[in-house]
Amino acid sequence: MKLKDKIIVITGASDGIGKQIALRLAKENTRLALIARDKKRLTEVSKLSKQLGAAEVKIYLCDICKTKKLEKTVKDIVSYFGSIDILINNAGIWQKINPLEKIKKDIVDEIIGTNLTGLIHITKLFLPVLKKQKESAIINVSSRSGIVPQEGQSVYSASKYGVKGFTDVLKIDLKSTNVKVAGVYQGGTNTRMFAKTGDNFPTDNFTEPADLADVVVYMLSRPAKIWLPEVHIER
Ligand SMILES: NC(=O)c1ccc[n+]([C@@H]2O[C@H](COP(=O)([O-])OP(=O)(O)OC[C@H]3O[C@@H](n4cnc5c(N)ncnc54)[C@H](OP(=O)(O)O)[C@@H]3O)[C@@H](O)[C@H]2O)c1
Repeated sequence: MKLKDKIIVITGASDGIGKQIALRLAKENTRLALIARDKKRLTEVSKLSKQLGAAEVKIYLCDICKTKKLEKTVKDIVSYFGSIDILINNAGIWQKINPLEKIKKDIVDEIIGTNLTGLIHITKLFLPVLKKQKESAIINVSSRSGIVPQEGQSVYSASKYGVKGFTDVLKIDLKSTNVKVAGVYQGGTNTRMFAKTGDNFPTDNFTEPADLADVVVYMLSRPAKIWLPEVHIER
């Protein structure tokens, strides 16, 4: 897909991987709709994206767990841009490593609500618009934890395995349309996601988020007859 002037929605664009995807796509002169909750960080990403060459950047403060707000945000994006070409579902939160008994109910709800339910809702809301485009794409950022079970990650893994199942079925359901669907399954990446919950792992071997952003741009910028529906990133 030729990325110049494409309208791209990125969730979780204020930090980490989503921020790097926004900055990398800005260099392709895309038009960006950036979603997250933190105004200060999102405004900074918008400013940097413009400096790097984005054709246009609009920010949308939205907690993707809040369905009404999400519906309004999607409406606002479509009414401002007229349509969208690409949806990158990246927003996600970590679950501090723990056995299930130690994971509080609110944390369970927040993780499933953000990583899985919010992702499903936003995809459903944008689907009619994406289907109208001559070529369009959805990229879901899952995780290695969405394909490999790892100790102490029951709830996070449930959300990410859920994203894998959702992505795989969506791919089948949309095979006769112009909407391409892909999942990204990466291991440890050097962001603040873990520290935000109080977990601190050595990150020397972790992938850099800017390198991951390169992979996402590569996936999106292949010629029309090439699509990478599932990308596993290992170090
Ligand atoms: N880091 C890793 O090792 C790793 C590995 C595999 C997969 N992943 C996945 O990669 C994605 C990005 O993670 P990251 O490492 O970049 O984490 P991060 O640095 O903590 O960034 C997460 C982003 O998601 C946003 N977000 C969180 N909850 C949200 C909500 N309810 N509504 C809207 N936005 C929300 C955050 O913005 P606000 O706080 O401003 O809302 C932030 O922009 C996640 O889906 C994560 O599960 C990460």
